[in-house]
Parts: sequence; C-alpha cells; structure tokens
Amino acid sequence: MTRRRLGPSTTAIHGTPAKSQVNDPVAPPIYQSSTFINAVGSADEVRYTRYGTNPNQVRLGERLARLEGAEAGIFVGSGMGATALAHLAILRPGDHLVSSDWIYGGTRRLFDEEFGRIGIEVTYVDPTHPRQWKEKLRGNTRAIFLETPTNPLIRVIDLEPVAMLCHDRGIALLVDSTFASPMNFRPLEHGADVVIHSATKYLNGHSDVIAGAVASTEQIVEEIRRLMQVWGQALDPHAAWLVERGMKTLAVRLERHNANGLAFAEWAAKQEAVTRVHYPGLPSHPDHAVAARLLDGFGGMVGLELAGGAPAAERALRQLRVAQHAPSLGGVETLVSEPRLTSHAALTPAQRAGQGIPDGFVRVSVGIEDVKDLTADFARALTHGRRKPR
Ligand SMILES: Cc1ncc(COP(=O)(O)O)c(C=O)c1O
Repeated sequence: MTRRRLGPSTTAIHGTPAKSQVNDPVAPPIYQSSTFINAVGSADEVRYTRYGTNPNQVRLGERLARLEGAEAGIFVGSGMGATALAHLAILRPGDHLVSSDWIYGGTRRLFDEEFGRIGIEVTYVDPTHPRQWKEKLRGNTRAIFLETPTNPLIRVIDLEPVAMLCHDRGIALLVDSTFASPMNFRPLEHGADVVIHSATKYLNGHSDVIAGAVASTEQIVEEIRRLMQVWGQALDPHAAWLVERGMKTLAVRLERHNANGLAFAEWAAKQEAVTRVHYPGLPSHPDHAVAARLLDGFGGMVGLELAGGAPAAERALRQLRVAQHAPSLGGVETLVSEPRLTSHAALTPAQRAGQGIPDGFVRVSVGIEDVKDLTADFARALTHGRRKPR
C-alpha cells in the first residue's frame, strides 16, 4: 500500500505524524539542554545541542525537508549562517561561483568580503538577462546562486532553464527562497539542488527569532551539519521550538499574506501618490506570466514608487501607525523599509535608479492584519505625505 502524501498544512503542523501515548504532551517540550545522557561504553553518536541532535532541532529539519520535497533539512542560527554553510558545503578554494546580481545585501557582503579571502571567486549576472548565466560559466564554476522572488522589485526568475544549464554542466544550483516560503514555491521541484531560507522571515513568521535553514540531499545536508558543528552555528532549542510553533501556521499565514498582498497592491496601483507598484500578481508586473505559472501564491512583498521621491517617502512613513518602519519581512505585522537606506544603501542614487529602484521606493512586507486597516493607514499617510512641509 502506498502512503498518501500529506498536504502542506498538515505537514507544517504535524511533520511526520506518529502514534501518541496517553498523557503525551500535544505541544512538544523544549529540550533546553546543552547535553544529554549517553550510554556508558557506547561509541554511538551522542546528543549535544551544538551537533544539531537536540530533538527540537531534529524535528524542525525533518519538517522543512517534507515541505520542500527534499531528502533532508537542517536549521542553523541565522539565514546568513544557512547561506554561508550551504555554499561552503559545495565550494572549495579555487572554485568559481556565478551569482545573481539581485541578492540580499548581507549575502553580497559574504561573497565580496569573505569568499575572496578563501579563494572562491564570484561573478555576478543580471538575472533578467538569462543568457548571461551561460556566458559567465568557467571551467572551475561549481555552482550558481540566485534569489527568487528578488528584493525589492519582486522579480520572479524562471528556474528551469538555469537548472537545465546546471545539470548539463554538473554544477549545483542554490536558491534562496526566503520571499516565497515553501507554501508559494518549492525550488527543488524546478530543478534546484539546494534551497536556503532565512527562517527569521516567513517560516517563523512572528519577528521574534533569528534562524536559517537549508533543504537538500542527505549528502549535502550532512556536510552542512559537519560544518555547523565545527563552525558553531547551531540553533538554540528555544528558538527551534518557536520556529516550530510558527511553522504550524505557515499555510494559513501565507494564504492571508497572498490575499492581503494582492489586495494591497491593487489598491496601491489606484493611488495618485504612487507612481508604480511592483507586485507579481499584477498583470503590469514584467514577470506576471512566469509568476502565475511557477508560484502557488504571489506573496506578501510589494514595492511602491512614491511621487515626490525620498522626502515624500519619509513624510509618509512617519505617518504610518499600523505598518511599522523596520527592516526584515515575512512576519504577521506589516513592515516597511526604504531600500536606499537599507538593502541598497551601498549603491549611488544613479546605480539604484539603473536597477529600477529610484529614491522614493518603499518596500512593504504586507502582514496578515485586516487589509482595510492597512489601506486606510497608507491612505492617510500618503495624503499627509503629499502636503508640502511648512
Ligand atoms: C532574502 C534573504 N536571505 C537571507 C537573509 C539573511 O537572513 P538572517 O537575517 O536570518 O540572517 C535575509 C535577511 O534579510 C534575506 O532577506
């Protein structure tokens, strides 16, 4: 008899359901213990929280693997930790990495400031020019890395041609899928080899934990586990417990993020104070067709270009009461930030404009509040923002 595959919401709540005993707790206990008793005279692997063998850590990794359709999964202390270890599991000194140019600023720093020091060279590609992937490959290229959807233009990259190129050349494709979460997109189903998350964002979803995760083959996850142990990157058990609790509502949260994201983007597109809305669920978005084909939901990330540039954006952001001005994303609460001061602060205004991110660009992580309260909050802030200061 073949086992019926559980749906994503059931999987997010139960992981692999097991028969329970009378008096078992329904909520899992927190194993807030650095170490565990082990058998005298045994050479079996010991349980030690830095090794990633604490039950809170193990449950979480298995759950992500099931959601992503991977052989194995692992959680570490941050999204940056996950990105670093996933690459270090695959690349060696002397290797070459081709990366999308449109990636999280912290990842860019890791590649530019650290990878060079250990002899890994990185070449960047504009992901909207797919031919460049092939053009930039060298004999020593071992991997391609990209983020999709991208920050802050929410471009959706068609993974399959890149995956085919990687498989033809025998190189690995690593994808940071933080913006989508496994509810909206599962990169391994489209040919990626490794999927990376900042679990700080949608997976946990409550803006109260820093965590990262990787799902891939047993072999790659084992190598990440080895690196995690020696580089000391394990996730604390309490943080793991919180992420598990957050993941139980991942499916319903994402349904609401998707619905609110679309409603908010459609509303914003009608506002005079907004000159352009970037949201893949809108037919005006350059990747609308790709997004409709690949994603199970368009997500909660929206980019707004405000008339009046940076001063107008600042005036409006000061007036928001429901939405909060803070970096990060993917939590239940709506957060707004300006790429010119955060993720894209290292670029000049002209460079940003060249990438399609003019000053006055506001990134909105649409939360799961009542969307009417969000649009009312922005309507008031945008009207106020349009008034000239005295
Ligand atoms: C797409 C993406 N990847 C990775 C990270 C890094 O995650 P963390 O802050 O959990 O280290 C972030 C953080 O903002 C992100 O937005």
